[in-house]
Amino acid sequence: MPHPPLVDPAVVSRCAIYPGYVEAKLGFRNHWYPTVFSHELAEGGYVSHPILGDRLLLARVDGRAYAVRDRCVHRGVPFSRKPECYRKGTLTCWYHGFTFDLESGMLVDIITDPGSRQIGRLRIARFPVIEAKGIVFVFLGDAEPPPLAHDVPPMFLDDDLAVRGVRQSVGSNWRVGCENGFDSTHVFIHKDSVLVEGNDLALPLGFRPTGPRAFEVVEAADGPRGVYDLLGEHSEPIFEGKVLGETVLHGHLGQTRVAYNISIWLPGVLRVHPWPDPSLTQFEWYVPIDADRHFYVQTLGRRVANAEEEARFAAEFDSKWRTLALAGFNDDDIWAREAQQEFYRHDEAWLEERLFEPDNNIIQWRKLASRYNRGIQQRAHLF
Ligand code: FES
Ligand SMILES: [Fe+2]
Repeated sequence: MPHPPLVDPAVVSRCAIYPGYVEAKLGFRNHWYPTVFSHELAEGGYVSHPILGDRLLLARVDGRAYAVRDRCVHRGVPFSRKPECYRKGTLTCWYHGFTFDLESGMLVDIITDPGSRQIGRLRIARFPVIEAKGIVFVFLGDAEPPPLAHDVPPMFLDDDLAVRGVRQSVGSNWRVGCENGFDSTHVFIHKDSVLVEGNDLALPLGFRPTGPRAFEVVEAADGPRGVYDLLGEHSEPIFEGKVLGETVLHGHLGQTRVAYNISIWLPGVLRVHPWPDPSLTQFEWYVPIDADRHFYVQTLGRRVANAEEEARFAAEFDSKWRTLALAGFNDDDIWAREAQQEFYRHDEAWLEERLFEPDNNIIQWRKLASRYNRGIQQRAHLF
């Protein structure tokens, strides 16, 4: 059955330099995405998780995490309403007892009709899972999955990097999230943040590009693909804010230099290095939920030499960074994304926006994502 296109084809064809990006309202298929944190998925437990217009049921058996589509093939109900299990490694639907193997997705029995000819013929969709850095990553697609390292920013999987994080649902499309994070002049919204004053950060009001190449595109096939923002080297920071010749505002001329290396990577993950402190790096994902929401998965990483340093980082994360940086500072971003969504929820917004020179980085990101994504999620699954 043909499905109506998610995005107006007339708009896609007019965005000729990044059509795939404009089309990807529900994100890109065949990539690894973070879902829940490992500690959220207990042994023997289940979590229903919406992603890319689809819905997963995550389960943990003997320590291993599994992901299947949270929808029974028989009459479409979500298993997660009342997940049942009578043999380890299987999932039984609460409605008529169809029982599936979590590893293969195969229908291995039907409690209400033991001899059914459907047994061994039907299956539910299952998705590859890798747990890394305390996060359950799921490969959303049908192709052969590449290494996880191809879908996360450089450094994230380094052995000595300890990672802590939080996640929440935000009311904007995932692309609005990516572009808010990578937008170099959006620093303007953070001018009153308590983080800036409290940590004595050097934070200008904006940047004026001094040359045409304020970005670097990374497109090698054997690693992650992304764009580095080089505005730190190819721009003049604006510390004095003027309107009609009169100085009206000042940026924060603090001593702590941070965020001089910002990059964005497929399938939609930002790295800010260092941030929010010279010893930390922020990695944050904007994972599509549906057309109007994304999961904002915020993590901080610090290099540690031993378990004691890791424990110290974990305590510092809980007592300081979780509230001051991930909530305090980034709440400004969430507010901005939700305000921006009112415009970008219309397909025509991609044609009606009027960008300026510092947005060139964003254009490079759109082009790269359009060119190197492994598929476009063309429709929401039925629920
Ligand atoms: S809907 Fe699941 S067994 Fe019938
Ligand atoms: Fe921001």
